[in-house]
Amino acid sequence: MLVKYELLKECSETKARLGKLHTNRGVINTPIFMPVGTQATVKTMTPEELKEMNAEIILSNTYHLFLRPGHGLIEKAGGLHKFMNWDRPILTDSGGFQVFSLGKLRKLSEEGATFNSHIDGSKQELTPEKAIEIQNALDSDIAMVLDECPPYPATREYVYNSLKRTTRWAKRCIDANNNPNQSLFGIVQGGMYQDLREESAKELLELDFPGYAIGGLSVGEPKNLMYEVLEYTTPLLPKDKPRYLMGVGSPDALFEGVEKGIDMFDCVHPTRIGRNGTAMTTYGTVNIKNAKFKEDFTPLDSECSCYTCRNYTRAYLRHLFKANEILGLRLMTYHNVHFLIDTMKNIRKSLEEDRFMTYKKEFFDKYDQS
Ligand code: GUN
Ligand code: ZN
Repeated sequence: MLVKYELLKECSETKARLGKLHTNRGVINTPIFMPVGTQATVKTMTPEELKEMNAEIILSNTYHLFLRPGHGLIEKAGGLHKFMNWDRPILTDSGGFQVFSLGKLRKLSEEGATFNSHIDGSKQELTPEKAIEIQNALDSDIAMVLDECPPYPATREYVYNSLKRTTRWAKRCIDANNNPNQSLFGIVQGGMYQDLREESAKELLELDFPGYAIGGLSVGEPKNLMYEVLEYTTPLLPKDKPRYLMGVGSPDALFEGVEKGIDMFDCVHPTRIGRNGTAMTTYGTVNIKNAKFKEDFTPLDSECSCYTCRNYTRAYLRHLFKANEILGLRLMTYHNVHFLIDTMKNIRKSLEEDRFMTYKKEFFDKYDQS
């Protein structure tokens, strides 16, 4: 079965929507934040911990798993779910974005991308067919087409050629797809050009994907420009299918995305900054290594109900970071992922009660963004 989006309610003031995404491995409540498990693990967290904080779906990466340990091995293990002991839905990104991020180490052609592995320098190739073969073998619930994500800034001509190629690659991905239980999503590109976003969306809609992502954002452009692109791109996508904004997960972007009609988000932000000693809290970010927390025996976030905040103090967390103890990374990651999952849960509740904009205001009245 392919995923099926059920629209439950639309916000009366914005384009925000409340829904459910039905998958073979259970129902996902949307809008939703997907924690990132690049290498078949959400760094430092066990699947039990992710479930405890109500993670409903996680994301993993074709590029990384292809290079190590290899999709053949994961297929032998019985697929990615079994391999990593996670029985809820998994979305895999196609590798397009990761390869693009390699910069000088890669070369793009009509056939696909050739690149040198970041692990051993070996020469590798990722084509649309290969990206599908890998994702079919991983047996993720949602797979992504191989796309080309243009840098920012990029000329109109560059972005035009790249979106045309992304459409041709999308067709090749559909033709190569051999896993009837996997839902393949299209990715709208077109950079910061409205007519090119329109062209990309129109071409991909003709291919009738079960879901659509918006790619090519959060690539270094100013936030307001990203919101502008979202404002005109999201309404181009079908109402009866899920809409996924790729690689975005700061609290302000989550609220803006939801407001503009996005249903799914992913970002390495909460896990990455957590391991760096930064927590997102009700009152804004906190760097736990700061000397002012040396004798602070209060929780990381006084309004948070997560395992970390129920049991540990800022002074203890600071000590763990100062002493390079692994538990520090785990406790901060736990809190940050919980924080975003919980914020999305509160957003869904506010949509249900038709007070989304009031909730947004309440959230940012407390959350210091400076
Ligand atoms: N992750 C963040 N942005 C993108 C994008 O444009 N394409 C893909 N495939 N993944 C992404
Ligand atoms: Zn907490």
